[in-house]
Amino acid sequence: MATTASLKSRDTVELFRQYVIPNYRRYPVNLVRGEGSHVWDSEGNRYLDLFPGWGCNLLGHCPPAVVQAVQDQVATLIHVPNTWHMESQGRWAELLSRHSFGGQAFFCNSGAEANEAAIKLARLHSPGRYKILTFEGGFHGRTLGSLSATAQPKYHEGLGPLVAGFRYLPWGDLAATAAAIDDETCAILVEPIQGEGGVRLPPPGFLQGLRALADQHRLLLMFDEVQTGCGRTGDWFAYQHFGVTPDVMTLAKALCGGIAGGALLTTAEIAPSLKPGMHASTFGGNPIAARAGIATLETIEREGLLENAQLLGDVFRQRLVAFQARCDAVADVRVQGVMIGLELRIDGAPIVERCLERKLLVNCTQGTVIRLLPAMNLTREQAEEGCDLLIEVVEQVAN
Ligand SMILES: Cc1ncc(COP(=O)(O)O)c(C=O)c1O
Repeated sequence: MATTASLKSRDTVELFRQYVIPNYRRYPVNLVRGEGSHVWDSEGNRYLDLFPGWGCNLLGHCPPAVVQAVQDQVATLIHVPNTWHMESQGRWAELLSRHSFGGQAFFCNSGAEANEAAIKLARLHSPGRYKILTFEGGFHGRTLGSLSATAQPKYHEGLGPLVAGFRYLPWGDLAATAAAIDDETCAILVEPIQGEGGVRLPPPGFLQGLRALADQHRLLLMFDEVQTGCGRTGDWFAYQHFGVTPDVMTLAKALCGGIAGGALLTTAEIAPSLKPGMHASTFGGNPIAARAGIATLETIEREGLLENAQLLGDVFRQRLVAFQARCDAVADVRVQGVMIGLELRIDGAPIVERCLERKLLVNCTQGTVIRLLPAMNLTREQAEEGCDLLIEVVEQVAN
């Protein structure tokens, strides 16, 4: 075992207290190993992980095909800059293009970085126009540009002035969106399903209405699929459920099966607006990320995991809707593939704590929404086990 895994949780917490900036709230647990939907801590406890890697580990922990691809690549060529061609980056772009709306890719390393690229592309594509419309409850990242696009005041505190040009609109409100468009507006940036905002599905007709407004006013319709993309919702990309094709799509999180990676996709007509020299990312599309990204997409296809994500979604929906019928603490159940939100009428934090004690990993967002982003290769038995535990915990805490 590597030396980094030899400390007990208590000692690791102390190491962090001394040397790591405390900008995260962390559980006092040192995780040392993962396999599929299980992780182990340094005390040897095993956890069922229904929130693996904050949505990044869509194939579970250490998916064999990704491990193999990364091991091969790391022994061959770790990094070369984007002044060269790399077959793997080209093939990765080809696969993403084939599974989405065609067009071309720009690669980076995170969701925020992908959205920064989208913001710059929108402005470059429409000279003289700079305003971008986004939606309340949305989340687009923590860099100043993507944060300025994020219409949640709690994330802005103490950071102003933000980047100019963003206008925040009520989620689902097409009339307000139409009224906000002026001669300086260049784009609409929206998550097709809000993730951090509480797994909120778009009201019927909303995305279609945005498409129509974008067409009417020559705006770029940009979908942030950082959380919903790459199979999470049971289709390759969430937009495919709604029959609305964006002009620009941003990806990260699950894109490389747990390895850092981000991407922006756009049509071949719009892509040239990112001219040489106007945007770059040193590590973007590096050979390791590219091989991991290809392995991720190929695994999803080879193992029929889009269908599995849909079946798993049905299991969670049935179990949680049945629970809602007999538990007043449950306000709503929202499911799209393996993107699951259980909205409560009580505080969600104690539920997460109690689940952790029961060795079940879940997340709470917006204070009251228990969010699950399980792996799309979770087994049905694991899904049932997770539902049993979660339901038991909610019942205990609610009563
Ligand atoms: C929809 C969405 N966009 C952007 C981001 C930011 O991604 P990253 O943390 O990789 O910068 C997130 C992260 O949770 C997200 O959910």
